[in-house]
Amino acid sequence: MDNLLMEIIERNRNLVRNGKVADYIPALGKANPEDIGVCVADLEGNIYKAGKYNKKFTIQSISKVIGLMLALIDNGQDRVFEKVGYEGTDEPFNTLYKLDLPHVFKPANPMINSGAIITTSLVKGNGEEKFERILALIRKIADNPSIDYNHEVYMSEKSTGHKNRAMGYMMKSMGLINGDVESILDCYFKQCSIEVDAVDLSKIGAFIANNCKGLDAYGKIDREKLTSILVGIMSTCGMYNFSSRYAVEVGIPSKSGVGGGIMGVVKSKMGIGVYGPALDENGNSSVGYGIMKDLSRELKLNLF
Ligand code: DON
Repeated sequence: MDNLLMEIIERNRNLVRNGKVADYIPALGKANPEDIGVCVADLEGNIYKAGKYNKKFTIQSISKVIGLMLALIDNGQDRVFEKVGYEGTDEPFNTLYKLDLPHVFKPANPMINSGAIITTSLVKGNGEEKFERILALIRKIADNPSIDYNHEVYMSEKSTGHKNRAMGYMMKSMGLINGDVESILDCYFKQCSIEVDAVDLSKIGAFIANNCKGLDAYGKIDREKLTSILVGIMSTCGMYNFSSRYAVEVGIPSKSGVGGGIMGVVKSKMGIGVYGPALDENGNSSVGYGIMKDLSRELKLNLF
């Protein structure tokens, strides 16, 4: 399997040329587009890996899946989806304008930035506690207590994230956000700056693939329901305005981040973590997409 993964990386390496490392968060611009890694974690505990699988990068939007998970655990499905929708969108991840349309009352889904700012606001905890709870959950489900956030990326994002700030205040004015917008955004910027590698992503994916087993400390949870919400939203919204094409070509519920990661969840089978920091025009890893497509075909993982 490790050989197959290496072969798939080499087959897709040329896709680096179709992408560009994100630099709208200045600290992300330092990534090397040639660093490509992949890791598969199955539910028996086997780990298969190739390339730069231990290269660290920031989790960025993949943290939105964990934000949604914790918001659901803390509030239940109904309360969360009162404030954010279930629907896919053809808008980019950082879209703002729809929030000002007369017939729009909440963000389309929890995977675009506005929707994720809502789920972060719904995570319980005052000030720093909110972030500490998100970090603790990520460490637990990745089974890696050394995971932490990257302070430079956090500061870079905090000092340039004015559009996210605009969304926060817009949603406060719409009555969707309770509490202090700045402190919610601070938590959002920090959660996006959490550093992981492809192995961590594959383990988080495997945790979800295993029906989120192991959350006993969080009280009584309907794990089947929680998993189906996460996987359903990842399938329809996880790759933003590319989600439908991705469903057809890859067919694995996935979530991307502008740090270059993609996390895939194959229910009852495995989690997949891919890293390739050059991004396509939708903000998804260009090499990562190619790798996921090949993996899906080689291992017959396409759900659809
Ligand atoms: O808020 C932002 O713009 C980033 N912290 C996260 C965006 C992101 O990862 C979009 N993903 N492809």
